[in-house]
Amino acid sequence: MVAPFHTDQIFIGGQWIAPNGGRVLPIENPSNGETLGRLAAGGAEDIDAAVQAARAALDGPWGRTTAVERGRVLARMGREVEARIDMLAELEALDVGKPLKQARADVVALARYLEFYAGAADKLHGETIPFLDGYTVYTLREPHGVTGHVIPWNYPMQIIGRSVVAALAVGNAAVLKPAEQASLTALAFAHIAEDCGLPAGALNVVTGTGAEAGAALAAHPGVNHLSFTGSTGVGVVIQQAAAVNAVPVTLELGGKSPQLVFDDADLDKALPFLVNAGVQNAGQTCSAGSRVLVQRGVYDEVVRRMGERFRALTVGPAMDDRDVGPLVSRKQQAMVERYIELGRADGLIAAQATLGELPSGGAYVAPTLFAGVAPDHALAQEEIFGPAVVVIPFETEEGAIAIANGTDYGLVAGVWTADGGRQMRLARRLRAGQVFINNYGAAGGVELPFGGVGKSGHGREKGFEALYAFTTLKTVAAHHG
Ligand code: NAI
Ligand code: MG
Repeated sequence: MVAPFHTDQIFIGGQWIAPNGGRVLPIENPSNGETLGRLAAGGAEDIDAAVQAARAALDGPWGRTTAVERGRVLARMGREVEARIDMLAELEALDVGKPLKQARADVVALARYLEFYAGAADKLHGETIPFLDGYTVYTLREPHGVTGHVIPWNYPMQIIGRSVVAALAVGNAAVLKPAEQASLTALAFAHIAEDCGLPAGALNVVTGTGAEAGAALAAHPGVNHLSFTGSTGVGVVIQQAAAVNAVPVTLELGGKSPQLVFDDADLDKALPFLVNAGVQNAGQTCSAGSRVLVQRGVYDEVVRRMGERFRALTVGPAMDDRDVGPLVSRKQQAMVERYIELGRADGLIAAQATLGELPSGGAYVAPTLFAGVAPDHALAQEEIFGPAVVVIPFETEEGAIAIANGTDYGLVAGVWTADGGRQMRLARRLRAGQVFINNYGAAGGVELPFGGVGKSGHGREKGFEALYAFTTLKTVAAHHG
């Protein structure tokens, strides 16, 4: 058995049960193509039962749990996640193909989210508003009620942290539908919640496909808020389904995030980020810094030095803990390979890592650097979601801004320059939810609000901001004369 629990059960109202009809999906190990076990394939009936269980929890003990007690149970869960780091990291590495140290970093991040939101749970409050004579007016921050969470396979634990944990902190009851390619850590998280005394029904996990379980959750009229992270196409479908019930939606979608490198940049500092922000998690990162814009004066040097680093990247099975693991699936591998073939046909490959001896059933792709790419080329416009970075030359600051803002996306951006005025100008003018100056990603800081503009989505998660997103505001106006 791959996990220390049954992987073919779903978690509803505090009970571990088989899904309606008892259907299962294979759990695949993308490092070697082997089947690891069986995952419950939940459907519309299971989603309905989960939404009802969440509603019952709100009407029961969970709904009466005080903010300080919610914080305490999340704090216990954070300590338990840390205590089980080896099990959680190994499950994720096997299931998603993530190199072990990157999987461990995800566990640490989940524990940190639990710590942060545990501390924040009892610090969110409303305001009193000066008003007409004889009135007292104040606002109450209230949970939405039942929150639905459809999450992807690239960073399951981190996304559980920034979405489910924030929702629980402010008193919602959550229904989580993890991705069918990577559900094991979501199930493990539910076991931890149960062991730490999270009241029954506060968290429900229904595994299954997007077309069945995901679509049923998005369309369920008993859901009061939806949080989705994944592809832009599915995000739009989810928003349409939610619109029928007038349910608010937070969408965290893809990106084609630029890193702008000016002639005066500290290249020694920038180079590791120019490469790693594109190949971390085999490039399957919504905020991957996958579009590197370089000013002419340092262009040749940056391409040469990035090329050296790309060629030195090592690729292997997740448990071997190399720089880059396999992609999550053969399907994802085929999608990324099409982009690499496109770059090859157009003569844009500047450097590529060598794949050594690898298990034949694995979903491996050679990390690839494209250079001299025109800003409107498909490689510079579309999300590749693999270990590939494109380099685009520019001449002036204005030109760089136009290229940087010239995609449908707007998730994050990085700026590498020593010029303080330029740093401030670009921070304002780049179209993105986060801008990093002389760094990229800020080590994933859970405190930092995150989300996109344009086709990267809308709404914010992470940081204190998520607590506003997962609550609704009630204004109380009392006339007392
Ligand atoms: P996806 O968007 O299909 O999957 C994300 C989640 O949505 C999964 O839980 C899936 O089961 C669910 N889902 C799928 N169809 C659904 C539907 N009709 N209704 C409700 N839920 C549904 O992403 P996929 O196909 O796995 O990856 C394709 C591309 O999406 C990637 O190549 C990448 O470009 C992008 N992507 C972006 C992510 C991000 O972090 N922004 C994460 C995953 C994928
Ligand atoms: Mg898997």
